[in-house]
Amino acid sequence: MFNSSAFYSFNSSFIRLPQLPTTLSLKGQTILITGSNTGIGLEAARQCVKLDANILILAVRSISKGEAAKADILQTNTASKTQVEVWNLDQESVKSVTTFGKRVQGLPRLDVAILNAAIFKFEYSTSSETGFESSLQVNHLSTSLLTLYLLPVLRKTAKDLKRSTRLTTTSSEVALWTPFKEQKVDKILDHLNNQQYFGPDHLDRYSVTKLLNIFWALELASQVSGDEVIMNLVNPGTLDTGLHRDGQQTFNGKFLQRFDRLLGRTPDEGGRLVMDGAVVKGRDTHGKYLSEAKVVEVTPFIRGEEGKKLWRCSRSRLGKLNLMSC
Ligand SMILES: NC(=O)c1ccc[n+]([C@@H]2O[C@H](COP(=O)([O-])OP(=O)(O)OC[C@H]3O[C@@H](n4cnc5c(N)ncnc54)[C@H](OP(=O)(O)O)[C@@H]3O)[C@@H](O)[C@H]2O)c1
Repeated sequence: MFNSSAFYSFNSSFIRLPQLPTTLSLKGQTILITGSNTGIGLEAARQCVKLDANILILAVRSISKGEAAKADILQTNTASKTQVEVWNLDQESVKSVTTFGKRVQGLPRLDVAILNAAIFKFEYSTSSETGFESSLQVNHLSTSLLTLYLLPVLRKTAKDLKRSTRLTTTSSEVALWTPFKEQKVDKILDHLNNQQYFGPDHLDRYSVTKLLNIFWALELASQVSGDEVIMNLVNPGTLDTGLHRDGQQTFNGKFLQRFDRLLGRTPDEGGRLVMDGAVVKGRDTHGKYLSEAKVVEVTPFIRGEEGKKLWRCSRSRLGKLNLMSC
């Protein structure tokens, strides 16, 4: 995995990334970004303010970090009229996702939602509320649950405005590399939740959660028309952000942090790529995975029966929320 990662990151450092169109404006739009107090999310948020979004919701697990991010964004956009709001969302907690989701449903409009929050765990831990392994909870289960709350507002906005709204998930190249060895077991989520099967390859656990995101997003996109909500996934490549900070006491963590510093893009470039997928790319990217601003075909395995199996399995874990009633 490290070899593929080094090869990929080295190659991608030569790719020239597109700038956002100079004519692009987000006037009038309401935009929501999860995990937007730092890294890619923060830089995508900064772009939204620069592009004159009407309302920008920073969905963050720490209000104080969110307020600091808001101050930072506004300081770099002093002429901005964007109303920046900081909303609490802790994806380790289903209660928090539910409260946040219901609050979103009170919005008169939502044009763009960017699902960006994620963690990379080097040690096994569980959500104290759900008992699920933390990265499975934060990266996959809560992200999926959130989509079910966001969809009704995105669909209603699309109907009111007579144009598509947008749902973009920040994905990762490593999702396409994992051997996904859990695919053969009977109850995949239970297996992933078992401490015995966590590690020693922590990169793989993170990769699997990002793969589960893809299964979910593609199946969701097959059930909702892109004329209503354009749903896509964006791989921003390797970045020098704080994603691997939990591992600073471990050999792998230190190695990954150095690797990011050496070969990673800047968070600003990552934010730009996410914004490209979320507000520039069109209807033809519905149900697609974008890598560095281009559509890339995911493997037939991802598009096949496994994807549907995972979708059904995750959905049953998400309780009674029914997509069709959204
Ligand atoms: N960095 C890379 O090389 C890379 C490559 C491909 C894809 N990505 C993806 O890019 C996205 C952003 O990551 P990043 O690189 O910008 O990393 P980051 O700097 O660590 O940002 C992650 C964000 O997620 C938030 N978050 C973590 N746990 C949360 C929770 N329980 N509830 C709500 N928010 C939570 C973090 O908040 P706190 O600050 O409070 O922790 C932070 O705002 C992720 O989806 C990641 O998988 C990153």
